[in-house]
This record gives sequence, C-alpha cells and structure tokens, in this order.
Amino acid sequence: MARARPQFVCANCGAVSSKWQGRCDSCGEWNTLVEETAASAPVALRTSRGKPVALAALSGETTELPRTLTGIAEFDRVIGGGFVPGSAILVGGDPGIGKSTILLQAAAALAQSGRRVVYVSGEEAIGQIRLRAERLGLAEAPVALAAETHVEDILATLQAGPQFDLAIIDSIQTLWTDLAESAPGTVTQVRTSAQALIRHAKASGAAIVLVGHVTKDGQIAGPRVVEHMVDAVLYFEGESGHQFRLLRAVKNRFGPASEIGVFEMTDAGLKEVSNPSLLFIGERDKASPGTAIFAGIEGTRPLLVEVQALVSDSALATPRRAVVGWDPNRLAMILAVLDARCGVRFATQDVYLNVAGGLRLAEPAADLAVAAALISARAGVATPSESVYFGEVSLSGAVRPVAQTAMRLNEAERLGFSRAILPAGRREGVRSTLTLNDVTTLADVVAAIAAESAAGGSGRPSR
Ligand code: TYD
Ligand code: MG
Repeated sequence: MARARPQFVCANCGAVSSKWQGRCDSCGEWNTLVEETAASAPVALRTSRGKPVALAALSGETTELPRTLTGIAEFDRVIGGGFVPGSAILVGGDPGIGKSTILLQAAAALAQSGRRVVYVSGEEAIGQIRLRAERLGLAEAPVALAAETHVEDILATLQAGPQFDLAIIDSIQTLWTDLAESAPGTVTQVRTSAQALIRHAKASGAAIVLVGHVTKDGQIAGPRVVEHMVDAVLYFEGESGHQFRLLRAVKNRFGPASEIGVFEMTDAGLKEVSNPSLLFIGERDKASPGTAIFAGIEGTRPLLVEVQALVSDSALATPRRAVVGWDPNRLAMILAVLDARCGVRFATQDVYLNVAGGLRLAEPAADLAVAAALISARAGVATPSESVYFGEVSLSGAVRPVAQTAMRLNEAERLGFSRAILPAGRREGVRSTLTLNDVTTLADVVAAIAAESAAGGSGRPSR
C-alpha cells in the first residue's frame, strides 16, 4: 500500500497544496493552511472506463418538487417553500444566536404533523436538549434524539428502521468519520463527513440540515467548502443586543436567494414576526431630524426600514465615520457626492449612520434614503414624516431608477405613508395613491428638505 503523504489544506477555501505556506495561494487568506494526511493514490487513477449517459432535451416533462412544510411560515419561505426531499441545507450563524433553538422548533413542528424527524446533537447531551424542548413547550413532540458525532454510527442509525423525512445534524464541526485519517475538526474531516451525510440524503430522499458555526469575520469556520456541496445555505444573524433574528438564504437551488425570515427571541423560543416593516420603522420620533424611511426589498418581500443619521461638530483632525448596518465605503461615497455635487459639507463633522432594528442593508436603492437622512441631520430639519425614499445615487449626483417600484410603493401605502421620493423614469403599470415626487439629482432632494425648513416644516427649531 502506498504511504500516506502529508498535504496542506486551506481552512478557508479548501485548496490543497503540497507544502506549507503562510498565505493561501488560492484565496489569499493568511495562516489558514493546516497539515493533513491523504491517501496517495488519487481516486481518478483507480476508476475504470466510463460509459456514455443518455442525454436529454431542455424541454420535456418535469414534476413539481414535493415540499414538506413546517408550518413556521417565516422559516418555510426562507427555505423556498418547505423542505425538498433529498436536499441538504447548511445553517450557519454565530454561537448562541439561536440555530439549535429554531431547528428544534422546526423539527418539533414537523414531527407533530406526523413526519419522522431525527435530531442528532454533537454538542449537547440528551438531557440538555430535553430541557430546551421543555422550555419551548415542545417536550411532547415525537422527535427522535441522539447525541452522537461518529458519522458511520449516525448513518447506520438513519438507515435502520423506517425512512426519516428530516435529519438535523448539530453541528458539522463536531463530526468525525473513519473515511478520513486526519483529526476531528479538520477541513478534511468536516468535508468528508458532510459528503457522506449529503450522499445519504440524496440516496434516501430524507432532507438533511447541517449546522455550522461562523467565525468572527462572518465565514463558516473551516468548512466553507461545505457551502459548495449543499443545496441551500442559510445564515442566522442578529445583533446580540437586539432580540431580533434574521434567517437569510444566501444560496438556494430550490428557491429565491436573499430571502429573509424575521424572528424575535423570547423566553419561549423564537417567535415569527410576520409584519417586519412595523418592526424596522418601530417607535419613531417623526419630528426629529436625521431619519428617513427606506422602501426596500429583501428577497421577494418589500420591507420598510428606518435609516438614522447623526452629524455633529468634530473635535478630531480626521472626523469619525461610524456605520452600523450599511457599507462604510458606500457612506463615504454618498458623503463625497453630497459635498462635490450639492455643496453639503461634512469635512469637519463626525457622521454616524445606523439602520434601525439591527438589519443590514445591501441594496444600492438605499442610497437615496441614506442621503436624505444625512441632509436632514446636517440641516437640522426632519424629512417629511409621511414619506418613503428609494433610489440609487451615482457619482455624478444623478438619482438612478431601481427595480420593483410597484412593490415598494404598495408596502408604503399599506403602512400608511402618503408620499414617495423616487427616481424619475418610466413607470409602466405602476398605480399608487401615494404622491410621487420624482427626483433626477441629489440636489433636488437637498432643495426639497431646505424648502421644508423654510416652510416651517415638521422640523424642530434649531437650537
Ligand atoms: P442556541 O439555539 O443554543 O444557539 P446556537 O445553537 O446558535 O449556538 O441559542 C442559545 C441562546 O438563545 C441562549 O443565549 C439563550 C437563548 N434562548 C432564549 O432566549 N429563549 C429560549 O427559549 C431559548 C431556548 C434560548
Ligand atoms: Mg447550538
């Protein structure tokens, strides 16, 4: 038998190299190469000649994928409308964010509707899981529990007896398999273990959920490689100070990606928030300057979010720019455009920007709302309280149209807003009872807020 030779695997991207290096050639991360042993004969050399497979046409009979719904609507939507048999889902998130809690709730809901569900924990003892179930009021749900980390034993358990509909493995970082020689917790172990479980899912038709912990910089620790192997990747996120949690699909072969589900962490587990716009525009002080409501889209759903800005005289040579929930580079760009194209200066001001409720905005359409909040904070004049903002700002100061105008306007209308400040442009088929204020440049927005001030507006008198 050929001797095993050492190889070095990147814990971030999974790239393999034959010698140790400080920096991974493939992804550029530092100190991520770890030594692992591998069988020396590559599998490819041992396989026999292949045989041709039947090719099919693009058009033809297709069957609708059957789905298994948990009944937790926010959860079902994020996974694309229920679990697909034979699919594998990776759920990532910081430790303590609530992954085990939401999955136990989903498992219990499915089990109560008569499905066979197994929950395998490599992190907690059976007693701990029972305590949690009791706290969640789910102790009666017929979920099968196991505390196990050995993949071969888990597979044997899944194969014994009647077919399971859903298996939850919490977490992949604790698994180890006889198929890999390296130590538990290494990239090879995690990848090989995940592969074996996913193969079982495909072969048996059981849906499988793998839990993975995320490192501080937001990557699934080590087994980033697992992301490529699964059908869907969900992240469970939230600010530790807030009780709100977002389940976000970043990849989904069976549904829209970037879909979010909103939950609230209570002492009886995670509760769905079915009207999240109300949450993110929550208790708002309509008369105070520095806020603007953004009419956004998260996944397939419209969402209104309050953007807050604070501008104050700086005592520093380089004024502070602090951002929560938005891209700091994008803030720098908006500040530069306001300065260069509209004459609104922030050079000697500290600027703080915050997205309410712990949400993270990624849409360029949020530019206009951010700009409005900044202008309003700088001028000390509130934006008109019944207005929503959306539009992308370009470096020239022009406001560019964005997609899904109708959906944004409908949501604003539903929540009692009466005016929208939006990019001018063709709007076929958009019918709205809102007053639509078209803007073509950011200077229009500056002028409108200045006019609000001159009219005595809803702003507070400046001190
Ligand atoms: P957990 O699901 O164990 O997190 P993860 O699996 O992502 O590591 O969640 C643990 C946290 O949730 C813990 O800080 C306590 C809190 N929690 C509640 O607030 N209410 C509850 O009903 C439960 C079960 C947990
Ligand atoms: Mg856990």
